[in-house]
Amino acid sequence: MTPRSLSGALALGALYAASAAAQGAPDGKQISTQGANGAPACITCHGARGEGNPAAGFPQLAGLGGAYLEEQLNAMANGSRVSPVMAATAKALDPAQRQAVARYYAGLPSPLDTDRLAATAMQLAKPADTGAWLATRGAWDKNVPACNQCHGPGGIGVGENFPALAGQPAAYIAGQLRAWRQGQRPPGPLGLMPAVATRLSEQEIDAVSAYYAGLPTAAIPAGQTGASAGAKP
Ligand code: HEC
Ligand code: HEC
Repeated sequence: MTPRSLSGALALGALYAASAAAQGAPDGKQISTQGANGAPACITCHGARGEGNPAAGFPQLAGLGGAYLEEQLNAMANGSRVSPVMAATAKALDPAQRQAVARYYAGLPSPLDTDRLAATAMQLAKPADTGAWLATRGAWDKNVPACNQCHGPGGIGVGENFPALAGQPAAYIAGQLRAWRQGQRPPGPLGLMPAVATRLSEQEIDAVSAYYAGLPTAAIPAGQTGASAGAKP
């Protein structure tokens, strides 16, 4: 091979590698910081570390299950989960991009202080404290188990399918419970949540939402940005 044809072959090789990268799996982190296909950057609403924005009612995404997050993005894209804020964004992403960004957020560390939250779950609730009572004891007179039984002690979340509730904005939690009552969100695994939500009164929805929103959560150490935190050893 002459030097000239060798450099030509190298250039071709570089071109090939570049186009393979372009066609490869989408970069979830890049979607979160820059958006894609006209969808805005997720961090503008969900926070630089996926911690959400309680004042604005934007949910925390960091550390929720990857399959759960992907399912929600797909549902918001096909309209079965009605979300005026998210619909256009979810639709703009293709399925592979939805999967990539869902996995990225699932890999970020949760901002929840799980020890403290588990300890709050041990505190005895008074029946008059409706939110705490529902969360830790349920309402068995109408077949509603304690929310913590599925969502973990203090609402820290369990595995892939039971999302964390602690620290989610009260308006967001209440909005989701009402969406299930109104058929504006898919039933999810075994239809568990529509069964729960339709048995709660309006006051109970507000009380239990305020309870979870008010639980102590941990601040993520400032140095831990999505970049370093997302990288798994
Ligand atoms: C303009 C603000 C905004 C932007 C930008 C935004 N979101 Fe959202 N997102 C919301 C709001 C508000 C909700 C709550 C949905 C609702 O109330 O209908 C939400 C809900 C979600 C949920 C459901 C969470 C759950 O616990 O079920 C996911 C997943 C999500 N967004 C992912 C993303 C991704 C990925 C991006 C970037 C591609 C993004 N969002 C960009 C505001 C935003
Ligand atoms: C029998 C198990 C079970 C019980 C009890 C339960 N949940 Fe759930 N919950 C689930 C599952 C499963 C999901 C995920 C649904 C999906 O994938 O769409 C969920 C999701 C949610 C969500 C949506 C979270 C998000 O990020 O969008 C909220 C809010 C919620 N539950 C609130 C409650 C409250 C409040 C109670 C108690 C009154 C409760 N749940 C009791 C199983 C349960």
